[in-house]
Amino acid sequence: MATLCVNIDHIATLRQARREEEPDPLEAARLVEKAGAIGITVHLREDRRHIQDRDVVGLRRQVKTKLNLEMAATDAMVKFALRVKPDQVTLVPEKRQELTTEGGLSLKAAPHRFQKAIDLLQSKGIPVSLFIDPSPQVIQLSARLGASFIEIHTGGYSRAFRLKGDVKKELLAVASGARLARSLGLRVHAGHGLTYRNVMPIGGLPEIEDLNIGHNIIARASMVGLEKAVREMTALLRKAGRK
Ligand code: PXP
Repeated sequence: MATLCVNIDHIATLRQARREEEPDPLEAARLVEKAGAIGITVHLREDRRHIQDRDVVGLRRQVKTKLNLEMAATDAMVKFALRVKPDQVTLVPEKRQELTTEGGLSLKAAPHRFQKAIDLLQSKGIPVSLFIDPSPQVIQLSARLGASFIEIHTGGYSRAFRLKGDVKKELLAVASGARLARSLGLRVHAGHGLTYRNVMPIGGLPEIEDLNIGHNIIARASMVGLEKAVREMTALLRKAGRK
């Protein structure tokens, strides 16, 4: 059974919209762990649009399950990760203009850069996962680079699901990628664009250990929590009116 790591970036997105203290990613992480997730995932982007350095430092102190830090393979980020020591680093591609991570890593474009980051982090006991598309060539290169894990990008699958495309073909690509990775000794995670509606077939693939899911869980949390939040405020106003 695949287990769940929750990406809490969008708790910080909401906080950064006002540069206030709330909502607090550390409080969110506590609730996520209490609810049974096996890990907390955050992406420290170079533009710091949501998660901040201090969040990662605070999470490192607090998280009792597993802290998975997503980051670009830059010298500055590797230095930061070596200092903070998350339980795992996931290397992801990063473009300033994108709304969210688009596509997997282009390992072939700069294999030495990835090799250096993987070697440095893993020599200090921080396992590295590479966020990649389910292409056999990229999976083989990930194994040659010596990463402990890959995270298969499920964006193609979720897009096909949403747009009523060829879901079967995309699912098969994820499933055969996961099988190939396992046969090469890689451990396998997956994520991106997964929702309450499309998660079941991916969650049932036996080779996949963790699923990283963010946006859809935070979106649902804002809906299932809204009624309670409004009731709490109206109760306060009733109490204020009685004084
Ligand atoms: N995995 C990786 C590597 C990501 O970059 C993201 C998005 O930050 C996710 C998983 C989660 O994607 P989503 O927010 O669409 O669930």
